[in-house]
Amino acid sequence: MKHTPHQYVHGHSDRESDRLRYQASKLAELLHHDTRYPPKSRVLEAACGVGAQTVILARNSPGAEFVSVDISAESLAAARDRVSHEGILNVTFRRADLYDLPFGPETFDHVFVCFLLEHLPDPILALNNLKRILRPKGIITVIEGDHGSALLYPDSPHAHRVIDCLVELQRQTGGNALIGRELWHLMMDAGFRNVTVSPRLVYSDESRPENVEGVKNIFIAMVDGVRETAIRQGLIDPGSWDEGIRDLHRTTEQGGTFCYTFFKAVGRKEG
Ligand SMILES: C[S@@+](CC[C@H](N)C(=O)[O-])C[C@H]1O[C@@H](n2cnc3c(N)ncnc32)[C@H](O)[C@@H]1O
Repeated sequence: MKHTPHQYVHGHSDRESDRLRYQASKLAELLHHDTRYPPKSRVLEAACGVGAQTVILARNSPGAEFVSVDISAESLAAARDRVSHEGILNVTFRRADLYDLPFGPETFDHVFVCFLLEHLPDPILALNNLKRILRPKGIITVIEGDHGSALLYPDSPHAHRVIDCLVELQRQTGGNALIGRELWHLMMDAGFRNVTVSPRLVYSDESRPENVEGVKNIFIAMVDGVRETAIRQGLIDPGSWDEGIRDLHRTTEQGGTFCYTFFKAVGRKEG
């Protein structure tokens, strides 16, 4: 079954590319410390975007052979530049749609997916397609966020309202910004076995300035990135939007705290 490419809620602007790269480097230890692939293993990175995760994966497993695919030619070009700039040699890129993958069955030992399923109308179909190209007993790793996991102090209905606007816009493009909590079930429903999910928590207060910067540049920047669309669609008025963003920033100031959970799932194909 072939799907038309969906609309990516955050867009493909330079600002969003910078945000994805910053996000990947900031979260590298938290999300990737336990992902290592053996020498000579064949790894498909599905939806590599601008290569933000690619450079981390490839450096952490220098003997593995990565094939990184994305539907966006523009993102792939940026990913290629990034990887070659870093002198990384164990990655090849290919333009491909997850719903029509140009690989034979059982081609890869591992599949890696990050921040993708949340944007797809049919994540189980996508997982099934990835399962097809995985060899028996091959391993899939999936990392997703869940915007409903944001805990704010001081709490603010205005701040939750702007987050809800992003959740709604993502829903309108067929995605699910609350997908992290569903990962275990999605993987099981797609037929993977030995599925384990580990929540990875990001927490910031003023005693952790590096985390505070991350909250501003990753989470708040991501929410604020849909400002114009949310207003244009009549989900919120400009004043309420700015109030919500201001209250999100208050969680990063003196006396504030912020907490968010990513979900990392690992599962095995039967064989
Ligand atoms: C949020 S970005 C994540 C990129 C990267 N995994 C990261 O963590 O930085 C989602 C990516 O999925 C890609 N994508 C969306 N639908 C796709 C599809 N059907 N096939 C391949 N890539 C797709 C988009 O082009 C975009 O680059």
